[in-house]
Amino acid sequence: MTDEEQWWRDAVVYQVYLRSFADSDGDGVGDLRGVLQHLDHLADLGVDALWLNPFYVSGGADAGYDVVDHRAVDPAMGSLADVDELLEQAHARGLRVVGDVVPNHTSSRHPWFEQARRGGPGDPARSRYHTATGRDGAPPSDWQSLFGGPAWEPFGDGEWYLHLFDVAQPDLNWEHPDVVADFERTVRFWLDRGFDGLRFDAAGAMAKAPGYPPVPEGPRHPGDDHPFSDRPEVHRIFRRFAQILAERPGRYGVAETWGPAWLGEPYMRQDELHQAFAMDVIFTRLDAGELGAAVREYLDAAERQGRRPAWPHGNHDVTRAATRWGSEGVMAVLLLLLALPGATYLYAGDELGLPEVELADADLRDPTWRRSGGTERGRDGARVPLPWRYDASGHHGFSPAGTQARTWLPQPSGWSELSVEAQHADTGSALATVRAALKARTSLREAPWPVWLPGPPGVLAFRRGDVTCVLNTSGGPLPLDEWGRELLAASRELDEDGRLPSPGTAWLR
Ligand code: NOJ
Repeated sequence: MTDEEQWWRDAVVYQVYLRSFADSDGDGVGDLRGVLQHLDHLADLGVDALWLNPFYVSGGADAGYDVVDHRAVDPAMGSLADVDELLEQAHARGLRVVGDVVPNHTSSRHPWFEQARRGGPGDPARSRYHTATGRDGAPPSDWQSLFGGPAWEPFGDGEWYLHLFDVAQPDLNWEHPDVVADFERTVRFWLDRGFDGLRFDAAGAMAKAPGYPPVPEGPRHPGDDHPFSDRPEVHRIFRRFAQILAERPGRYGVAETWGPAWLGEPYMRQDELHQAFAMDVIFTRLDAGELGAAVREYLDAAERQGRRPAWPHGNHDVTRAATRWGSEGVMAVLLLLLALPGATYLYAGDELGLPEVELADADLRDPTWRRSGGTERGRDGARVPLPWRYDASGHHGFSPAGTQARTWLPQPSGWSELSVEAQHADTGSALATVRAALKARTSLREAPWPVWLPGPPGVLAFRRGDVTCVLNTSGGPLPLDEWGRELLAASRELDEDGRLPSPGTAWLR
């Protein structure tokens, strides 16, 4: 493969959370044409690709991840013609487009599941899903849903179905030939339309242990046999997907993996996918030592497989980066990740430094809130629609002028101050920092693997070729002279003595 064909190895991928990016038709929900209207923002920012969260026909239970038809566009999101136009317009601007496929489950409104429900116990349609007989009125096993509550739901006729996520997301049985054949068709369908890559949702969940045995308690260790996470059988499935990707040069796959580097490593084997998310980075404190240890583990794992990591800085499932790492930390960590070998995944709105929003109970939509009996607030606080303009209308430019409909999650007042328009011309803004860093990053593209440098406590430093990256979390300002003469980029302004405040990251030559 040529370097150009492996464009994804060091790409900056911008995650467009469709429902919250931009609304073109005034219903308060973002859509595909909203993305079309703002492609220039992404080109101007300097990202290489955009990842679109699911836009398929959906039952509306999990913001698009409960899919009714994997090869059709939800009318609320737009049309297939809009997808084609988006691919064309993005490609014309040199932006690649990554899709998001959902192989682990369907919506409970999927025709297969409706057939299974109607069919009754023993009906062959049920075998496309994980269904089992209850134990004297109790579920077939004690498995818990990742969104809270039991992972089994009764059909009401003695049989139960498994849903690791919401009750409206029954898990598919990947031992069934129909499931394999239909999903391979889905993967081909989107690649043939022009997608440059695919994210495989819930990659680790697709194989279940026969008999649904109990989940062991406590932390996981290499070699453990977990009944539904990262089982060896899932790799057979990914080897097939990898063959389909390989038939089309320049396309790649990224596994949505959660957990430590050793769990994600097998997905990056040469005959599997090209990337697996280094998800633990998201949960690492803003501390040079802890961040250094976390990134080194993922770098080593990727290197062993001849790959490069996929660094998530944020996403739609976790607390906003600016709230996790603080308003200065958000950019410090971003510049650290951007300086490492691998692809960085930037979540829409984090280029504006948007904080997590505290929503009222009545506004929460995430199924986690309901399924946990109101104990887990869920992920909505990171999904509030983006502010684009100064706008008195109440939606801050998210919807067309004059729109009466409310945004699907309410935006805080004062959101205009953080809008793209407000930050565009402000050289000290988060947006300006990201734009400058992405420009400067070109000098790191083909740079060698990092050489770690000794530094004072609270400082993480490494060199790649002639560029040095320093992260300062020491609590005090760091003189930069010993690290380099020319400042290429910094996550914040240096102090009057030319020192890097804490927390902060600088790239020097
Ligand atoms: C991971 C997705 O990112 C998340 O939003 C979704 O709820 C689950 N997978 C289930 O599809």
